[in-house]
Amino acid sequence: MSFTIIEQCPPRLNRSELAVPGSNSKFLERAAESAADVVFLDLEDAVAPDDKVSARHNVIAALNDLDWSQKTISVRVNGLDTHYMYRDVVDVLEGAPDKLDLLMIPKAGTAADVYAVDMLVTQIEQATKATRRIGFELIIETALGMQNVHEIAAASRRNESLHFGVADYAASTKARTTSMGGPNADYHVLTDPDEAGNRDVHWGDMWHYPMARMEVAARANGLRPVDGPFGDIKDPDGYTAQANRGSVLGYEGKWAIHPSQIELANGVFSPSEAEVTKAKRIIEAMEQAHKEGKGAVTLDGRLIDLASIKQAEVMVKKAEQIAAS
Ligand code: GLV
Ligand code: MG
Repeated sequence: MSFTIIEQCPPRLNRSELAVPGSNSKFLERAAESAADVVFLDLEDAVAPDDKVSARHNVIAALNDLDWSQKTISVRVNGLDTHYMYRDVVDVLEGAPDKLDLLMIPKAGTAADVYAVDMLVTQIEQATKATRRIGFELIIETALGMQNVHEIAAASRRNESLHFGVADYAASTKARTTSMGGPNADYHVLTDPDEAGNRDVHWGDMWHYPMARMEVAARANGLRPVDGPFGDIKDPDGYTAQANRGSVLGYEGKWAIHPSQIELANGVFSPSEAEVTKAKRIIEAMEQAHKEGKGAVTLDGRLIDLASIKQAEVMVKKAEQIAAS
């Protein structure tokens, strides 16, 4: 272990994160009753410029009037490069004091972006004598943000999670794709020809590098890595495949841009009973090994050691968190 201890952000379930446009009051009502772990009320890209002000009013009313007590509730404000952003922060936090858990900052590009919002939020919290401390969700969705992701992740003690915003990231990096997330048939390799001259096509995951880079930055700073949107709402299998690969890497959850994606995410990011049982057996076996003065033992023919016990504890802790929710 390093002498540097990583402080962990407050523990929250973040398997599914439902995006709801602030401009649609009916959607806001339905979101409060959904099975999503986290809901973010959007003032940014799902809201047209002409609706920005009315969406802000809707969101403040929804925070005050609806029951969000069973969820983590967040608001995505507009970017720091727009004049909407300061009013989003001031009006929402003053208009619905102590109602919000998190503030989502889109297109975070530098640590200074996070610092600026932290300053504003801190002043408002002091002025309103707020008792609920706001945490930050940061969307990493530009080349600049991905380059600076480590500094961004460390920029504020309010930081709780990093989100991979694949759509804006594709635009920012000028990736040759117009879909929101998902694979691209042109991102493939060909195997060498076999004896008959046949070659197989192996699709690659064009998002692997940014996903993995953001995961490391999040975990090295005690934050939750969360995967962003998958645009094809008629393709549950595609969604599940995308969610699974994030889950395998260590992601905590994925956005749902349609209510039908909530259960899919909750399923993928909940460990199965078999996984939890196996994890508990590893912990028991290692406890026994410890008593016998051994550092490693075999379980079902496979070597397990002190690292295995840490992996198993992560799994069991997640299962406990889900059971308590
Ligand atoms: C999310 O905001 C994205 O751009 O994918
Ligand atoms: Mg975006």
